[in-house]
Amino acid sequence: MPSDAQTRQSNEAWGSRIGLILAMAGNAVGLGNFLRFPGQAAANGGGSFMIPYFIAFLLLGIPLMWIEWGIGRNGGRFRKGHIPGMFGAIWKHPAAKYLGVIGLVIPLVVLSYYTVLMSWTLAFTWFSITGDYWGLTTQEQMSGYLTSYQVIGDGSVHAPWVPIFFFVLSLGSTIWVLSRGISAGIEKLARIGMPILFVFALVLAVRVMFLGGGENGVSPVQGLQFIYQPDFSRMDEPTVWLAAAGQIFFTLSVGMGTLQTYASYLSKKDDIALSGVATAATNETAEVVLGGSIAIPAAVAFFGVAGAMQVAQSGSFNLGFVSMPIVFQSMPFGQVFGAMWFGLLFFAGITSSVAMATPIVAFYREEFGYRRETVSWIVGLVAFCFGLLSIFWFEYGFIWEWDYWAGTFGLAVMAFVEVVLFMWVFKPETAWESIHQGADIRIPRIYKFIMTYVTPAYLGVILLWWGATEALPFLRLEGGRGAGGAIPEGGEVYVHVSRLLILAIGVFFAIMVRIAWKRNRYDDRAGFVEVEDTFLGTIPGREVAR
Ligand code: PHE
Repeated sequence: MPSDAQTRQSNEAWGSRIGLILAMAGNAVGLGNFLRFPGQAAANGGGSFMIPYFIAFLLLGIPLMWIEWGIGRNGGRFRKGHIPGMFGAIWKHPAAKYLGVIGLVIPLVVLSYYTVLMSWTLAFTWFSITGDYWGLTTQEQMSGYLTSYQVIGDGSVHAPWVPIFFFVLSLGSTIWVLSRGISAGIEKLARIGMPILFVFALVLAVRVMFLGGGENGVSPVQGLQFIYQPDFSRMDEPTVWLAAAGQIFFTLSVGMGTLQTYASYLSKKDDIALSGVATAATNETAEVVLGGSIAIPAAVAFFGVAGAMQVAQSGSFNLGFVSMPIVFQSMPFGQVFGAMWFGLLFFAGITSSVAMATPIVAFYREEFGYRRETVSWIVGLVAFCFGLLSIFWFEYGFIWEWDYWAGTFGLAVMAFVEVVLFMWVFKPETAWESIHQGADIRIPRIYKFIMTYVTPAYLGVILLWWGATEALPFLRLEGGRGAGGAIPEGGEVYVHVSRLLILAIGVFFAIMVRIAWKRNRYDDRAGFVEVEDTFLGTIPGREVAR
């Protein structure tokens, strides 16, 4: 018998196939596509980044996409929309649920800082409309403006309440959408937000191609060449490979727990094989075609290739927040284009941030029977408090510690655990069959081999390499550097606090998982009871209005 909590709550479904794909694409397409990608590509040599990037897409990204959709939909059979439950459904062992705790920690941590990044985009949308930064036309001036916004105590440009106000607005809108549920909230947002985002991106990409160039007079086309011309000279640098894999995880939202939650609302009659690649392809189009055609060519036109690389290396957000505003100021109707750019970033961000909270909402609804609205606003309050730490301790690199441990290294850890559970514990045959249930296509068989051997091996190597060359040195604060770079005087304590907090969140969720399992009297070895999937699926009208 399903427990009370299982039957009472969490009957959710997608309204339609296209809505599902848009929501999944909305989940994947985010700040990663338009800010992180150009930054990473430029900082890692453009054409030299793209080869490891595509290899990572084919051998890690696509396989993990299918694996996560598979894990998610399989969890849905037992009405489990959260990772501890999904892992328990695959591996009938008491440890499975605790391994799944990473799938609650990462989304909460990422939500807490991602909404802060989003709030910068919202603020800059406003500053573009009002022409607030007009007149600041050099890199020094513009980056001074950005820093003064980020470092809240500074106050030289804006009063300290301004960044907090935009943060509340960004997080608040995220939580509001979330509280309306899967179909009426998230799917509806994606139906509105995704088309707007694509149109804005297209307009900007076209406009950038017509840039005459600043004092440099370089053609923006050189920016395209910089990314798309294969360059084998840096292929032997491990850091380029690691950066490429990290970008693939982040941009596709794999290793998080959110794609799985979205997929848990699907039934065994639904296709996931084709939908999974369709989502990955949409994301890559948004990233490589659109994301690659805006910030980099614009920066190259103004500062030359070397200049653009230098901007990117000086800070991961500088291409978007420093060089773009300078470019807009040289254009007729620059304020409109500026608003479009930052508005596009905000829309990309919000369709991702709503995804991040869903695993936690699913956990509390399914295991504790909470109402969706209640959990949503509690999660919002918690994210608000954590977000304030990112804001107030910005100069100590607090936010970059969270971005590194949860949003970069953590994703690879989670991906590794998942691939081992799904392909090895669940077994390749079962996994392959489960992905093909209701499928509209057959996946080329070579992928069974890739998913069983290549993906886990690739991930294993990455983890070791990353661990040795980056994570360990960061952990030890070697050379006075943390994940965010050099730590300022007296900043160590903030770095330690940020890491301890992540640990504490982990301990907290582990305890919650324990309580949930006791409360619902789950038997780890026996597994969960399968529920009828009357409420699952994408057929319109089958969704439960709540
Ligand atoms: N993929 C999103 C982006 O590119 C970020 C994200 C990661 C969203 C994980 C949800 C989960 O910005």
